Amino acid sequence: MPPKLAALAATGLVLASACATGPGPSGAVLYRQNCVSCHGTDGAGDGPMAADLALPPADLRGLTAANGGVFPAERVMATIHGYRGKDDAALMPEFGPVRHGPPLIWTAPDGREIPTPPALLALAEHIETLQDRPTPARQ
Ligand code: HEC
Repeated sequence: MPPKLAALAATGLVLASACATGPGPSGAVLYRQNCVSCHGTDGAGDGPMAADLALPPADLRGLTAANGGVFPAERVMATIHGYRGKDDAALMPEFGPVRHGPPLIWTAPDGREIPTPPALLALAEHIETLQDRPTPARQ
């Protein structure tokens, strides 16, 4: 598994804590606050709001598998940042405003350097940890 995002997120924390704003919330916290209602705790797409949506929330656990074994970090971050949906319904909200601290420079796999809100990096890193997670037995 590519450790790049984890390393970047760690760098982000170091950078952010060097600034007056301090580090933002972790990816897990951001995910819980903004995403669980639709995508569910484990990213299976089974959040409490899922049943009310015309289009089921994506199962976020299979993104790496569907992308040839590479976590599609850039697509995930673009999706979260400015989501338009597969149709005009745009069921998933845009999270462009979810910003904490100044943008960090994220280096894409092809070498492009992209200023990226730390919250997006944190969320992408969290979603990467959900990959291939089995559906847990509900307690
Ligand atoms: C109101 C419900 C809702 C919320 C809240 C929501 N999503 Fe979604 N999300 C969806 C739906 C519905 C889709 C699938 C739509 C489609 O495929 O067109 C989706 C798709 C996605 C995808 C695309 C997966 C792929 O196959 O490329 C990603 C990534 C994603 N969501 C991440 C997130 C993250 C991270 C958050 C929180 C910051 C979030 N979503 C919050 C409903 C939601």
